[in-house]
Amino acid sequence: MTTSKTAVIVLAAGLGTRMKSKLAKVLHPLAGRPMIAHLMATIDGLDPEDVCVVVGGFMDSISDVVSPFPTAVQSDRLGTAHAVLAARDSIGDFDGDVLVLYGDTPLITPDTLEAMLDARHSDLDPAVVVLGFTPEDAGEYGRLIVGEDGALNAIVEARDATDDQRQVDLCNSGVMAIDGKVMWSLLDRVGNDNAKGEYYLTDIIGLACADGRNCCVVEGEPDELIGINSRIELAEAEAILQDRLRFQAMENGVTLIDPTTVFLSHDTKLGVDVSIGPNVFFGPGVSIGDGATINAFCHIEGARVLPKASIGPFARLRPGTTVSEGARVGNFVEIKNAMLEPGAKVSHLTYIGDAHIGEGANIGAGTITCNYDGYFKSKTIIGKGAFIGSNTALIAPVTIGDGAVVGAGSTICKDVDGDALAVTRARHQQIDGWAKINRKRKAAEKAKKKKD
Ligand code: UD1
Ligand code: CA
Repeated sequence: MTTSKTAVIVLAAGLGTRMKSKLAKVLHPLAGRPMIAHLMATIDGLDPEDVCVVVGGFMDSISDVVSPFPTAVQSDRLGTAHAVLAARDSIGDFDGDVLVLYGDTPLITPDTLEAMLDARHSDLDPAVVVLGFTPEDAGEYGRLIVGEDGALNAIVEARDATDDQRQVDLCNSGVMAIDGKVMWSLLDRVGNDNAKGEYYLTDIIGLACADGRNCCVVEGEPDELIGINSRIELAEAEAILQDRLRFQAMENGVTLIDPTTVFLSHDTKLGVDVSIGPNVFFGPGVSIGDGATINAFCHIEGARVLPKASIGPFARLRPGTTVSEGARVGNFVEIKNAMLEPGAKVSHLTYIGDAHIGEGANIGAGTITCNYDGYFKSKTIIGKGAFIGSNTALIAPVTIGDGAVVGAGSTICKDVDGDALAVTRARHQQIDGWAKINRKRKAAEKAKKKKD
């Protein structure tokens, strides 16, 4: 743990052309939030003195997501060194460590950043610490040229590298920790005489060495350092992040019967002894209490499931839903903006929207709360211990009193008093022997038609 001051510059001005998207690359979501929001959360955890996110022109949507952190605009995209210089007015002269991170490399962990800051304060007193890694395919990554003494002498971009240099498999992740005292002076001297005609941030290594300063490498895990340039890499990053979230959940006492089929959001909260079946999706804003069971094929978003409740299989909980302790939601049930009090049961084929379901109430199969008249949403209140028969339409606003019973097949548009029975279906009639007589009559008619 270092005690020196830290400033962070995040580069996010790239166009992300290879995403083929109208959405800025760094706003594409991972585990339910924009990729850059993951990075900003990691940065926030470092409690830095100063932060600046470098964006291109017309990227207000990025500024909104990273707010309250400030942004600086790099109008012409002339390279990574040029991008860091765009943050100069915002950061100013800084007597501490400056971390440069990439908005499209969001999976980096706080431990790795701490290791880089620690290296900055080693006896070597390096001007720049570079986060290196050894990817399976070094491809177009910059190559780290390390001397026999282990010091970093230069970074060479793949397209500017000699054949020998291209053989190096230790690559530049892009992440750097730089001595703030010399950073601007190094950047001022970066030129653009290279294959791309860009101002490369990587050139500050050679410049620092020429000034007689040391530079060094901290090696990181490839899984943390994947740079996202395409939808394929976005999916690879999602898989890495999901694995991390599932691993954490299991470490914390959650059973995942088939882990790779459970999709979690960055903020999914799962209690101890929660059991989750195969193929379950958690959108943002979900918490599941201790001992609750989420059966296979559920879709849950913006909902609270309290301890020992049971959900699914095949249930959908939408935002604003609370399922209280011991309550049960069964198959093909959709619930939105509703409170189920403890022990309430909604077991089959039902839509509950904008409703309050009392303690221990039983909602029969095929019950629908008709909460929307095409213009307004209205509320349904069902009392404690009430029993709603199957195939009932509850036309909101409507209140069913405590302990009331609604007969199956009813359409309820008036309030029902507590302990009353309400039934709205037509009366049952029976005509004895009618079916037999009807069969004979029809058979005779048919026989006559054939003869004619
Ligand atoms: C860069 C590094 C390379 C490293 C690789 C790791 C340089 C010269 N090269 O290459 O050594 O192996 O990242 O992924 O630094 N950006 C701007 N403004 C610009 C240019 C880029 O903000 O003018 C931002 C991009 O949005 C992106 C980051 O900088 O977040 C990296 O830019 P990119 O063009 O993707 O660099 P690479 O060619 O991948
Ligand atoms: Ca890149």
